[in-house]
Amino acid sequence: MDTLRVGLLGCGNVGAAVVRMLHDNADDIARRSGAHIDIVRVAVRDLSKERHVPLDPDMFTTDARGVAGEAWADVVVELIGGIEPARSLILEAFAAGKSVVTANKELLATSAGELFEAAVRAGVDLLYEASVGGGIPLIRPLRESLAGDRILRFMGIVNGTTNYILTRMAEEGMSLEAALTEAQALGYAEADPTADVEGHDAAAKAAILATIAFDLPVASSDVYREGISRLTPDDVAYARGLGYSIKLLAIAEADGDTVSVRVHPAMIPKDHPLASVRESFNAVYLEGERLGPLMLYGRGAGGDPTATSVVGDLIELARNRAAGSLPSVIHHTAHAPGARERRLRPIEELETQYYVLMEVADRPGVLAAIATAFATNDVSIKSVRQEGHGEQAQLVMITHRASERALRACVDDLAGIDSVKSVRSVLRVEAAEP
Ligand SMILES: NC(=O)c1ccc[n+]([C@@H]2O[C@H](COP(=O)([O-])OP(=O)(O)OC[C@H]3O[C@@H](n4cnc5c(N)ncnc54)[C@H](OP(=O)(O)O)[C@@H]3O)[C@@H](O)[C@H]2O)c1
Repeated sequence: MDTLRVGLLGCGNVGAAVVRMLHDNADDIARRSGAHIDIVRVAVRDLSKERHVPLDPDMFTTDARGVAGEAWADVVVELIGGIEPARSLILEAFAAGKSVVTANKELLATSAGELFEAAVRAGVDLLYEASVGGGIPLIRPLRESLAGDRILRFMGIVNGTTNYILTRMAEEGMSLEAALTEAQALGYAEADPTADVEGHDAAAKAAILATIAFDLPVASSDVYREGISRLTPDDVAYARGLGYSIKLLAIAEADGDTVSVRVHPAMIPKDHPLASVRESFNAVYLEGERLGPLMLYGRGAGGDPTATSVVGDLIELARNRAAGSLPSVIHHTAHAPGARERRLRPIEELETQYYVLMEVADRPGVLAAIATAFATNDVSIKSVRQEGHGEQAQLVMITHRASERALRACVDDLAGIDSVKSVRSVLRVEAAEP
């Protein structure tokens, strides 16, 4: 049987789980892929760290460039993360004629075009199933199983940390700070939670998925992004009372020749399949023109689930090599010449429903003034709820579908009304009205 020799860059959470999986399931993997998939060299930063992996200590090195470029490995698995040196190492591996498997969403969401181009030039492959949704197969279903259909939209819970925090806020009435502290204690959140809480991680994943789903190169910086840091227990309680859940969603949808890609907290009806995605689980709910709805659900992070995706990519490489197939990277139509002409739609052109929470003084005429602000901006109100009386009242409005531009103008007008002390929050409401 053939042997696929793997140079591994990084042996942390995911890297070590990949090593263990290849070792523990070696016979099945060999039978299914037609090759022994053997790790031959591992680059790390610190050679003195205890790794708990079934590998000879002599295989470890700090010379990552050597692992990427040397001739004794057939493929390279990049599990270092971040932009540099990961980017240069992957380009070196391509230049040395090696296909690469990576889990690096940050890099793909900033440099996919450059990487795919370099891979095509070198006649090698770049596979990245683990970069979005950890163990959930998302890239391969989009690229292969669903390639015949038109994807109309997807909505995803693609960040486990924020989903854990939102679950605790909704189910236990916790503040965001308390839920975050708990998530950190359980190892679900980093010491610096900015990338998760402010939606950067979800934006990178939205960019990667949208690029494949809509044949349009999308980078992280193209994605409209709001995090969850301004959400309060009041928002969560009102949402619940009105029959909604709040989730941090990565959404992309096509409309004619435009595509909008955005990440923000949103209210979704409690009976929507995504509303039942609790704690650190991830899910992507998508709609195909002919397929209809589909939801892929599972563990979006963690060494072992993520390793499943990495090893799946290695098996694809082994099979392709045995079959003498062309690299699948050539099917990345978003970056290929002749890609469909589409443009990104700015957030101002979005049309959706909105939730608006205001602190108001409950005086005669206040509701009429507020209704006028909505009406003059062409935003139609679906429901109004008042909590409290006198100077301490809160008004919660849900609108029908309206444009983001109109809603923003309406919020500006509301802020100018005497009896409106503040517009405390505005959230988009998704999947509630056709
Ligand atoms: N963890 C997850 O659940 C998850 C899920 C999906 C995708 N990912 C992605 O998978 C990748 C790896 O994540 P991880 O959680 O496994 O990270 P990690 O635990 O921090 O491991 C990173 C590894 O890279 C090594 N490394 C760092 N800089 C290096 C350098 N300059 N040269 C050689 N080795 C270097 C580290 O060496 P030392 O061990 O010596 O420090 C470590 O072994 C990232 O792109 C991440 O976004 C992770």
